[in-house]
Amino acid sequence: MKRVLSCIQPTGDIHYGNYFGAVKNWVELQETYQTIYGVVDYHAMTMPYNPKKLRENTWELIYNLMAMGIKPDNLFIQSLVPEHAELSWIFNNFASMGRVENMTQFKDKSVQSKAGKDGFISVGLFDYPVLQAADILIYKADFVPVGEDQRQHLELTREIAQRFNNQVGKEYFVLPETLFTETPKIKSTADPSRKMSKSAGDKHNISVFAEEAVIRKRIKSAVTDTGEVVEGQMSDGIKNLFEILKAADRQDDFDSLMGDYNSGTLKYSALKDAVAEALVGLSNSFNARKKEITADKRAVKYQIKISSDNIRKIAQETIKEVKDLCGLVNVKF
Ligand code: TRP
Repeated sequence: MKRVLSCIQPTGDIHYGNYFGAVKNWVELQETYQTIYGVVDYHAMTMPYNPKKLRENTWELIYNLMAMGIKPDNLFIQSLVPEHAELSWIFNNFASMGRVENMTQFKDKSVQSKAGKDGFISVGLFDYPVLQAADILIYKADFVPVGEDQRQHLELTREIAQRFNNQVGKEYFVLPETLFTETPKIKSTADPSRKMSKSAGDKHNISVFAEEAVIRKRIKSAVTDTGEVVEGQMSDGIKNLFEILKAADRQDDFDSLMGDYNSGTLKYSALKDAVAEALVGLSNSFNARKKEITADKRAVKYQIKISSDNIRKIAQETIKEVKDLCGLVNVKF
């Protein structure tokens, strides 16, 4: 069975852009692949952060992923597998300075970071993609499902693997492939010209765990037409609402409302009602599952400690072979 690996940073809430764009796909991949999913807390230290919040967010994300359908056996927390950090140090020596300097995520985030209190940009933020390469290669993943924004990081990962293989004179790492699945790109309902995102502010995203009333209000106030109506062209706002409907597997509603649109009889209120209904249905079931899961947090933490230990065994095996191959001392008594 081919192995799939992906990771997510514990930086707060999950919104419908994240769910339809990534997590829903992760849930489905569990059926056809051996899947490993990490909550990467070491990565979350690369931007200004609060220690107490980091730990809270890490567990919160575990509960959230489980509530959305990720099996706990497939989940690990990065800092419970310290070999990631060890491999990333080794990989620093196989990563090209010039290439890492060119990463657009670093450029974007260093702007955000500079806008913070004291203009501080950490070496960790710069080195982030090398740690990401370690996350992937330590499990010898065949496929990595990520969005377009991570394409560069995946290329760097392959380059590091290649250079390592050349150095040790052996095709040790198989070059991982990006698994680009067709996932919908959900837009902000308040401004459908931009994608749904956390950083843009509250009204630009809808939490997967939002209360019913919040969801209904947000969808009701979703922007539909922005003034300039181009004859025969669907506005971004309407397109986005249809996109959400389809992403939520409401194909029947989608077909009938699209029929109305095509015959010029679509009532926006009917489209909005259908979208609100779909999201409320999803959120209600996620919230119910989350309630069950968090009823015994200690039990979940224990379960994740065990699953991280199990997943760690793969990482330990890799790090042992890597150290041996790249000339670090290897004493056996
Ligand atoms: N960089 C990814 C993001 O910003 C998160 C990530 C860290 C990741 N390590 C990874 C994704 C390994 C895939 C594989 O979304």
